Amino acid sequence: MKLLHIDSSVLGPNSVSRQVSAAIVQRLVATTPGLDVAYRDLAANPLAHLSGAHVAARMGAEPEAALSDDLAAGATALDDFLAADIVIIGAPMYNFTIPTQLKAWIDRIAVAGKTFSYGPDGVKGLAGGKRIVIALSRGGHYGAGAPAAAYEHTETYLRSVFGFIGVTDIEVIVAEGINLGPEHREKAVAGALQAATDLRAA
Ligand SMILES: Cc1cc2nc3c(=O)[nH]c(=O)nc-3n(C[C@H](O)[C@H](O)[C@H](O)COP(=O)(O)O)c2cc1C
Repeated sequence: MKLLHIDSSVLGPNSVSRQVSAAIVQRLVATTPGLDVAYRDLAANPLAHLSGAHVAARMGAEPEAALSDDLAAGATALDDFLAADIVIIGAPMYNFTIPTQLKAWIDRIAVAGKTFSYGPDGVKGLAGGKRIVIALSRGGHYGAGAPAAAYEHTETYLRSVFGFIGVTDIEVIVAEGINLGPEHREKAVAGALQAATDLRAA
């Protein structure tokens, strides 16, 4: 069984989503003998933002030499995602949504003909059968009933895009209120780490 672990926070060792995603991986490794873990740090090794040249290359155009390394990295990102049975994603909220580095990765894995297809019956997700666990960290509160709930475009976006490509097994562990003070942060992180420990085995 293969697990792909993705981090996208730019805050390095101070990152909450990195701490929680690591705890999730630790829990699944501990409960799954022989789990094969691959790691991708999108802040340390970002993919380029999608450009017209990327889309043209995807449609068969000869790519410019300067793009070849990034195209190869994007192809590897897609292969790693397709090969994974479980995907763990550390996803902070920046300006009400995911970091651009994570969006750049999604732009490489949401590919017509690979992870979804259009047909006479509409859109079909092709990437089902995976389990995705997201470690989400947010500075404020965005849960149901919170005044800023309508500003939440992190969990809602990730659930939409992974649902679109056919993934139905999506769990989200949220640590929120991180920027409201040390006590809030401590409590939120402890709750998220407990939720990671309580995750069902792979
Ligand atoms: C550039 C930046 C933008 C942020 N934007 C928001 C925001 O829009 N809403 C919010 O509640 N918190 C925001 N925060 C706070 C983060 O969501 C919070 O610090 C969270 O822990 C980030 O996850 P990380 O620690 O894994 O990086 C922002 C933080 C940074 C660094």
